[in-house]
Amino acid sequence: MNETIDLLMQHRSIRQFKTEPLTENQIQTIVEAGQAASTSSYYQAYSIIGITDPTLKQQLREVSGQPYVEENGHLFVFCADVNRLAQSQDEETQKQMKTNLESTEFFMMATIDATLAAQNCAVATESLGLGMCYLGSLRNDVNRVNELLQLPDYVVPLFGMAVGVPEEDPERKPRFDWQTIYHENRYEATTSDDITTFDQKTEDYYSSRSENVRTDKWSEQIRRKLTNPMRQDVAPFIQSKQLNKH
Ligand SMILES: Cc1cc2nc3c(=O)[nH]c(=O)nc-3n(C[C@H](O)[C@H](O)[C@H](O)COP(=O)(O)O)c2cc1C
Repeated sequence: MNETIDLLMQHRSIRQFKTEPLTENQIQTIVEAGQAASTSSYYQAYSIIGITDPTLKQQLREVSGQPYVEENGHLFVFCADVNRLAQSQDEETQKQMKTNLESTEFFMMATIDATLAAQNCAVATESLGLGMCYLGSLRNDVNRVNELLQLPDYVVPLFGMAVGVPEEDPERKPRFDWQTIYHENRYEATTSDDITTFDQKTEDYYSSRSENVRTDKWSEQIRRKLTNPMRQDVAPFIQSKQLNKH
């Protein structure tokens, strides 16, 4: 269709990278592309932390349990950050801002801002011929990541992104038919036929891909994941950072 859409449609997560580090110039380009994303009310309520210290990388790998957190060309951690908004004001004004800064609404805005910036970074990364993988696994121990990165109140780590020169070339993973995702004018519940069709698609994908072949399907994955309570420490952690309180 066009180069941008072709690039978007070619996305697949990369989990094996060459050891070649990103250049300073590549890092700057990726971060600036992230910053170009739209941002709620011009708040820019996020920070991006690049991890260059090998010990710290190893500690973050331990949190995640995933080798590519350590073995990559560069590791970014995306944080929701309303601290900068507070810092821009004097103490009296900060007190007046507290109700807003500590609300669910502001936590959502900061999370959305960070995520939009991250996806711009992801697309920029892929446009440079590099690969990437998001890392929600850093929330396996969010308190530990908070400690390791020495984050102040009003700043929380959301997810990481491993970036680098791909050392694998996996197939693209199927998605739901666009009409399952896109509704017009009112919500339309997904039908069991939609699920069955997608289960079949994913079964075919898992059984025929070039690496890590297995018997699996989407609804089975969802059942496995969601029937075990996960990361129940995240909610109290966020509140301990004075966010999402009301
Ligand atoms: C917010 C977020 C967090 C993710 N966390 C992880 C992760 O911790 N480890 C991992 O291997 N993949 C992670 N992924 C990648 C997803 O598993 C992947 O995007 C999804 O399976 C679709 O595959 P694709 O990206 O290759 O199309 C994450 C993706 C997102 C958006």
